[in-house]
Amino acid sequence: MYSDDDVAALYDAANPWDASDAFYLAYVMAAESVHDVGCGTGRLLHRARATGHTGRLCGVDPDIPSLNRARTRTDIEWVAATAADMAWRNEFDLAVMAGNAFQTLITDDDVHRSLAAIRSALRDGGRFVFGTRNPLARAWESWHPGNASDVTDHTGRELRMIHHVESVVADVVTMTETIATRDGTEVRVDRGTLRFLDTAALDRFLGTAGFTVESRYGDWHSGPWTPDSTNIITVAAATNSPATTG
Ligand SMILES: C[S@@+](CC[C@H](N)C(=O)[O-])C[C@H]1O[C@@H](n2cnc3c(N)ncnc32)[C@H](O)[C@@H]1O
Repeated sequence: MYSDDDVAALYDAANPWDASDAFYLAYVMAAESVHDVGCGTGRLLHRARATGHTGRLCGVDPDIPSLNRARTRTDIEWVAATAADMAWRNEFDLAVMAGNAFQTLITDDDVHRSLAAIRSALRDGGRFVFGTRNPLARAWESWHPGNASDVTDHTGRELRMIHHVESVVADVVTMTETIATRDGTEVRVDRGTLRFLDTAALDRFLGTAGFTVESRYGDWHSGPWTPDSTNIITVAAATNSPATTG
């Protein structure tokens, strides 16, 4: 069988450094203290430290196998928690949710509580930078076996990753990710759920949590957001106290 640790390692193999990581890294390098929420295997903060960031770097994720990979760097704080369960107060200049981690927040309550915790962890004037796939681009329509991708894992094993959408209910997409050998023999199947919030809903949630949208981009080269954009990339400033809004 393919273990949870193997899956965490496979994530890194299947998601090489790309333009989105470079986009986030620029914000990270410009901030003194950084919170990477949903940090996964920690590659963004690893790269920041390796690139010369000397300030406070803190990664948070509920997935222990991913965090175990992150912890290979001991000059960064790693905390096992969900976004909603974080309890920092006024400690960070920047929070990011890279790799569309924001889309793992499914219910309104989880989105509210997660944004409130991120806002509380930020100093006044701090920024929250995150991306989420644009629902108008309907990315899930390309998640089918015809678009399977081949990947070689950390042990040199040649695998195939196959996605299959089970349901689309309102803005919530449920799918399976099958890891198989190249001849199609299943090695492991995981179910995942992602929420696709539109810009209006995002802005309502952000406003309630005490954020003001500063910039919005539609791609990882800072092109403007349009309804045709594949991504909704938001730079939000921590302006109001969540306790006095919403
Ligand atoms: C697609 S991965 C992105 C990982 C990393 N940010 C990156 O760019 O490589 C999404 C991450 O969100 C994490 N996650 C899931 N639910 C979460 C929650 N409620 N709060 C914070 N992170 C969560 C998952 O464990 C996973 O590591």
